[in-house]
Amino acid sequence: MPEQIRVDDEILLQRSFDTPAEVVHELVHQNLEHLGRFLAWARPDYDVEGVRAFQQAGRERWNESGEHGYSIFYRDEYAGAIGMRGFDSPVGAASIGYWLSAHLQGNGIMTRSVSALIRLGFETYDLNQVIIRAAPANGRSRAIPERLGFVETGIERQMAKNVKGEFLDLVIYSLLRSEWQG
Ligand SMILES: CC(C)(COP(=O)(O)OP(=O)(O)OC[C@H]1O[C@@H](n2cnc3c(N)ncnc32)[C@H](O)[C@@H]1OP(=O)(O)O)[C@@H](O)C(=O)NCCC(=O)NCCS
Repeated sequence: MPEQIRVDDEILLQRSFDTPAEVVHELVHQNLEHLGRFLAWARPDYDVEGVRAFQQAGRERWNESGEHGYSIFYRDEYAGAIGMRGFDSPVGAASIGYWLSAHLQGNGIMTRSVSALIRLGFETYDLNQVIIRAAPANGRSRAIPERLGFVETGIERQMAKNVKGEFLDLVIYSLLRSEWQG
């Protein structure tokens, strides 16, 4: 995957481990409540060392296992992250996960970023399908695959946790290359 992806004139994706850990840490801390509803890692004790360890693992996975994490910059401001894993899947099925700072929601940043990764996956990396999972109550997250024409295919029961340690079901969405409208 490229080190940078220019989504459009407002949005740039850049390898996540190229973003200073302090920058990631600051934005995540500003958003702990917002993120913790659906993401188990957004804990109050999330610290810069944890970011560095995560980035180091990301650097290794980038080359070894077909997993790619990007920082999202919106009008040059660090806005959140998006990742795609499963490039090494024997059936060409990759999945996408994401988060965005609360104050930048509502601008289509994530829908546009997801759309750019889908295009790259189908056109350049020979993927056959892209999968997105979201908790049933996560309306904003579910709206992204729904907006992009994904098909809801089922539910994985208790396959995620929130920051309180409560189990979350996940609704599965998938988009096949044959369904993709470009
Ligand atoms: C999930 C999450 C990324 C969604 O963020 P979002 O801002 O709602 O999604 P987008 O950036 O795609 O923006 C969509 C909104 O922008 C609008 N929009 C504006 N321009 C747009 C464009 N060019 N394209 C698409 N939508 C556009 C849409 O109409 C929509 O508006 P609405 O909020 O009134 O419905 C965010 O809520 C989040 O990070 N939540 C916490 C973490 C999380 O839950 N992660 C996912 C775990 S599965």
